[in-house]
Amino acid sequence: MYSDKVMDHFTNPRNVGELENASGVGTVGNAKCGDIMRIYLDIDDNHIIRDVKFKTFGCGAAIATSSMATELVKGKSIQEALEITNKTVMEALDGLPSVKIHCSLLAEEAIHAALWDYATKNNIEIEGLEKPKNDIHEEEN
Ligand code: FES
Repeated sequence: MYSDKVMDHFTNPRNVGELENASGVGTVGNAKCGDIMRIYLDIDDNHIIRDVKFKTFGCGAAIATSSMATELVKGKSIQEALEITNKTVMEALDGLPSVKIHCSLLAEEAIHAALWDYATKNNIEIEGLEKPKNDIHEEEN
């Protein structure tokens, strides 16, 4: 049912934890299943994501997608990180069962929420970034 990569990132998730003095922190949840994800970004003066950590209270697919999403954004510019969608994350994991696709939306939205927090704190505008939702449940279907 799950690919080897999903199982690997679920059993051995990368970048778990928090960052003290993070440049941006994003938290999103899905009210339907009750799962919550928080992402911490450390962004340098050149707008490169130096470090990233996450904490996910959620299902295996949510943990695996969070882990893969953090691997994908690490070392990237803000604009590159913005282009990482839930589809990118799923492809990097060799797919997810269709009933679990919604879980991958948490990672995409949590990255956007952390970037939004960074932009707000620094009083800058990130082109193409829209105000994220706290609850992604409405976005499904
Ligand atoms: Fe809620 Fe997977 S069941 S994120």
